[in-house]
Amino acid sequence: MNTDRIVRTFVEYFEERGHRRITGSTLLPPEDDPVLFTTSGMHPLTPYLEGRPHPLGGRLVNVQRCLRTTDLEEVGDSTHLTVFEMLGTWSLGDYGHRQSLDWAFGLLTEGFGIDPGLLYATAFGGDDRTGPDTASLELWQERGVPVELTVEDNWWSGGPTGPCGPDSEIFLWTGDTPPRSTPTGDGRWVEVWNHVSMGHRQLADGSLVPLPRNNVDTGLGLERLAAAVQRRTSVFECDLFDPWRRLVPALWPLDEPSLRLVCDHLRSAVVVIGDGVRPAGTGRGHVLRSLVRRVLTVVRRHDPSGSLGDLPDELVRHTLDHFRQGEDPHVVRRVLLEEERRFGRLLERGRRVLARPRFRGPLSEEDFHYLHDTHGLPRDLVLGLRPE
Ligand code: SER
Repeated sequence: MNTDRIVRTFVEYFEERGHRRITGSTLLPPEDDPVLFTTSGMHPLTPYLEGRPHPLGGRLVNVQRCLRTTDLEEVGDSTHLTVFEMLGTWSLGDYGHRQSLDWAFGLLTEGFGIDPGLLYATAFGGDDRTGPDTASLELWQERGVPVELTVEDNWWSGGPTGPCGPDSEIFLWTGDTPPRSTPTGDGRWVEVWNHVSMGHRQLADGSLVPLPRNNVDTGLGLERLAAAVQRRTSVFECDLFDPWRRLVPALWPLDEPSLRLVCDHLRSAVVVIGDGVRPAGTGRGHVLRSLVRRVLTVVRRHDPSGSLGDLPDELVRHTLDHFRQGEDPHVVRRVLLEEERRFGRLLERGRRVLARPRFRGPLSEEDFHYLHDTHGLPRDLVLGLRPE
C-alpha cells in the first residue's frame, strides 16, 4: 500500500464515521501565531479546541504537513524527519477518548492489516491533579493490547500554557528479535498514533481549568505508518523516499547517516521554499538557511566539489507535487543555488579571517562573539573550518 492509498484509506475510514475533511494548511501558521512553523495537525485548530464552533461541525479529519526543529538532531535515526505529515482526527465535544481509540484499533488492524500482536499502548496513570485514564486502560484491555501506564510521557501539552490533557499513544513493534521491555524501555517500539483527551487548559501558574467542552485530538505520523505498513525498517525507506534513494547516492558518495540527513534536509528545504519562505538571517528564513547549509557541509565532507546544481529536477518536482505546491521548480533551484553561493562566500571569508595569527590557538568566547558580530561567522561554521 503506497502512501497515497494510506492517506485515502485513513480519510475515508473517518469520513464513513461522520468526519468532515478539512484542508491541511501550509507550514506557515497565521500571522498572529508566535510559532515559526506548524508543528502538529492540531496547531491550526487551537481556537476550535478552545471552544469556538467549527463551521464543519464536531468531527474533523485532515492531513497536515508539519516541521519540527526540535527533532533536527534526531534526523538520521529510523523515525525522525524535519518535515513530515500528520494524519489527524478531532472530536470537538463530540465522541470520547474510548471511541477514538477503538476506531484507531479497527483501522490499524483491519484497514491497514497490522497484526494486533505488534501493538502496545501507553496511557496516563494519574497524578495529584488528574486521576488515571481508566477509559483508555479498559479499552486496551478489552482489545487485548498490552498497556503501560506512565505519568509525564502521557500528559500532552503544546507548551507551558494552552489546551492539554492525558493521552494514549499507540506503538508498533519494529524489531527483529523479541522486545526487551515495554515502549518506554525499548526504542524499537515506535510511536505512531497519539490520542489526546483534551479537556483542560493550562494557565501560566501551572493550574488547570476545564475547557468549555471535552475534545479528542489525534495525530498519526504518515511516514512512520507507511514504513510499518510497507514493512520497511525506517521512514527513509517508505515509498516517499524512493526517488531520493535512487538518485542521491548517484550524485554524492554519502554514508547511510549522511544520506538520510541530506535527503531529509533537502526535501524539507524544497517544501519550505514551496510554501514561500526565502533564506534569511532570522525566523523561518534562518531555519531554511540552516537546512541548506547543513546539507552543503555534509555533502562537501564527502565530495568537496559537490553542488546543489547537481540536484535532479525530478526530486524537486516530486516533492512539490506530493505537497501540492504550485511553486515553479526552477525558482526552487535558483533559491538553493543562490544560498549555496552565499555560503561559499562566507566560507571563503571564514578561512581568510581564521588564518590570522590571533585565531591560531584555542578560541575564547570573546573570539566567537567577535567572529560572529564583526565577520558574520556563526560558531558552527567556525568550528567546521578549524582543523580537528
Ligand atoms: N497533539 C498531538 C500531537 O502533536 C496529537 O495531534 O502529538
